[in-house]
Amino acid sequence: MPVRPVLRMGDARLLRRAEPVSHFGGEELLALLGDMRDTMQATRGVGLAAPQIGVNLRVVIFSVRPPQADREKSAARYPDAEAVPETVLINPVITRLGDEIEEAWEGCLSVPGLRGLVPRLRNIRYQGCDEYGALIDRTVSGFHARVVQHECDHLDGILYPMRIRDMAKFGYNEELFPGRTMPDA
Ligand code: NI
Repeated sequence: MPVRPVLRMGDARLLRRAEPVSHFGGEELLALLGDMRDTMQATRGVGLAAPQIGVNLRVVIFSVRPPQADREKSAARYPDAEAVPETVLINPVITRLGDEIEEAWEGCLSVPGLRGLVPRLRNIRYQGCDEYGALIDRTVSGFHARVVQHECDHLDGILYPMRIRDMAKFGYNEELFPGRTMPDA
């Protein structure tokens, strides 16, 4: 499955509202997910949404390995990263659980080289389907919840810089975090 070019901020295709998937388990959807997995691995991302490779469907994937499983010493994970299971999430619905908001640094494959401090709900429930139509229903918090909110925002044409409250907390990786490589989503 080919690695696909990731669209960058400024491309109008990142600003569309993506369409729901209506047919599960088909060849086309499975091929899309193959491309998305390969693209996410090649770019060392923690998540990827279909619109980021120009496919206007409500499909996201994400996966965060626990830090000790990471053999790449050069790629230090998010400092507060906890493991997030490899997930295919289609037609997601996010429900807020409480009003607690947390700010943390995010990066995005569509906004390469930059990082910003982004407020997100701390606790959410998310529901959706996998590629075969099996239901997913999870209640999560913290980093896992952040990754899901970041990826699902892509399905509504929202990139994380649009959510930054203090633009003084937006800048280049090398300046903000010298000597550290952090994954994007
Ligand atoms: Ni992103």
